[in-house]
Amino acid sequence: MDFLFLAAKTLMLAVPLYIANGCALLSGGKTPIDLNAKFVDNKPLLGKGKTFRGAAGGIACGAIASAAIWFFLPVVSQGFGTNYLILGFLLSLGAIIGDIAGSFLKRRLGIERGQKAFLLDQLDFIAGGLILACLVYPAGIIEIILLVVLTPVFHLIGNRIAFKAKRKKVPW
Ligand code: CTP
Ligand code: MG
Repeated sequence: MDFLFLAAKTLMLAVPLYIANGCALLSGGKTPIDLNAKFVDNKPLLGKGKTFRGAAGGIACGAIASAAIWFFLPVVSQGFGTNYLILGFLLSLGAIIGDIAGSFLKRRLGIERGQKAFLLDQLDFIAGGLILACLVYPAGIIEIILLVVLTPVFHLIGNRIAFKAKRKKVPW
């Protein structure tokens, strides 16, 4: 396949994933999804960093961004062989679920809310999004490799910006 087309498709997978993840950060609210519940290990189920507002804002923004892409870039959208509106929604929803699963795992490993878990922090939402998206579009190996290699780089840059803008307590 034409490399440029593959790169464009990878970007179109990345946008809902990144937007959902980034907007969860921007719209983060107060009420935590786990309602402050503890797991059997007596540690927080998810922790205070996963809120209903953050999740809803992330999914909504990811879906809106996908709709915009679907509308303005119909040619690439068609390249997925499935409805990009649905794909974008699944990527956004999956990204939020993956991020939540990542926090669940961090708490089980005894890593406190906001503490760094290199690679897990950067890839949980990518994995979640790509897995849920398999319902309509199983990403190819090159798309996965591009996302996995580029994401930690972008993620670290983005988090540094969010930290400087005082949206995050730590620069990762
Ligand atoms: N956020 C939210 N709801 C979500 C995801 C994120 O409110 N579903 C907000 C929270 O304010 C969170 C911030 O975005 O603190 C950054 O997200 P993230 O780095 O995923 O959370 P952490 O605070 O680092 O917590 P964790 O250790 O569980 O990853
Ligand atoms: Mg974090």
